[in-house]
Amino acid sequence: MERVNVGIIGCGHISDHYCQGLKHFRALDLRACADMDMSRAKALASDHGIAALTVDQLLADPDIEIVVNLTPPAAHFDVAMQVIAAGKHVHNEKPLAQTRDQGQTLLQAAADAGLRLGCAPDTFLGGGLQTSRKLLDDGWIGAPVAACGFFASHGPDSYHPTPDFFFKPGGGPLFDMAPYYLTALIHLIGPVERVTGSASKGFERRYATNKDLPPDLYGYAIDVEVDTHVSAVLDFANGSVASLISSFDTWHHNLPFIEIFGTEGTLSIPDPNHFRGPVRVRRANAEDWSEMPLTHDASMLRGVGVADLAYSLKSGRPHRASGALAWHVLDLMHAILDSADSGQHQQISSGVSRPEPLPAGLAPGQLDD
Ligand SMILES: NC(=O)c1ccc[n+]([C@@H]2O[C@H](COP(=O)([O-])OP(=O)(O)OC[C@H]3O[C@@H](n4cnc5c(N)ncnc54)[C@H](O)[C@@H]3O)[C@@H](O)[C@H]2O)c1
Repeated sequence: MERVNVGIIGCGHISDHYCQGLKHFRALDLRACADMDMSRAKALASDHGIAALTVDQLLADPDIEIVVNLTPPAAHFDVAMQVIAAGKHVHNEKPLAQTRDQGQTLLQAAADAGLRLGCAPDTFLGGGLQTSRKLLDDGWIGAPVAACGFFASHGPDSYHPTPDFFFKPGGGPLFDMAPYYLTALIHLIGPVERVTGSASKGFERRYATNKDLPPDLYGYAIDVEVDTHVSAVLDFANGSVASLISSFDTWHHNLPFIEIFGTEGTLSIPDPNHFRGPVRVRRANAEDWSEMPLTHDASMLRGVGVADLAYSLKSGRPHRASGALAWHVLDLMHAILDSADSGQHQQISSGVSRPEPLPAGLAPGQLDD
């Protein structure tokens, strides 16, 4: 297939990882990057042999077909709207946008322009979650009845070089980490019809303690503006019920990442923030867990959703890490907080179909034939 040219806007902490991941796919040609801070664009460009451009130059470059938006959450909407206005397909980092209005505006703008809108996370396309999907669909644990998903850490203030945005609207453990868990659960079980939530804030201030910060910045204080422990119940359209915790207030725990409880056994799912295993099954009468061989490539990195989008442009098929999926996730996260505020269940109207599973046995770096 003829390669699709890609540019990146936002050359921060995660951008090097994306450059490596995008290069994994023969469908993609990573051409250029841009950042409001030109020194960051130049550093990334020099590491990866691509062009460093201003944002305006990148948007005006007729060769770039897909833009990967790796800016912080507060800029996701504005940058994605600029990309669509420039006539290019866009793949956002998560969350899709900060507000529901922004999310719907993005979906509509892309549809009106005849452009594709994609969004992270794309980790559900990795070997761990695709193998889990195959085992579930093939009936290894019978029909899903219930599930749980747990993200519990003490937050990014000790490792991220600029952790402020994690504690501002659009961040927090819900908007930052729950997209991995919600997307994985929707990919496995289907859309959610009702949510209930409670939320709390364990600490009013956080202190940036990345060991590489200069002495004048080490330990600077960040006012926490979002809830940092969120607990939710998800009622799926197929009748399954899931419990979800997403927390930046937890030092230690013994919780699994995700488990699906079926009529004939339990499926233990690996970290949905990664592409690898292990995937474990324990059928009803089994004495122990069995680790299952992965049926799908686990060597991919972030950017597989962009490659999937590139293939979809050529064949016309839907792309899997879609704006519609990310919109359902965004709507669920807001509904969880609405429920926490109101004390009421929230009915969800933003349905979405489960994305198609990837075929088993694809060679690394390839998605379609
Ligand atoms: N850091 C991680 O481990 C990680 C992992 C997965 C996903 N993400 C997501 O990736 C996104 C970026 O995260 P990060 O950690 O790389 O952030 P970062 O703050 O390290 O980098 C963001 C970059 O975007 C640039 N930028 C901001 N606004 C801009 C604009 N309007 N135009 C052009 N450039 C702009 C900044 O100058 C900065 O270089 C976030 O949405 C985050 O949730 C991060």
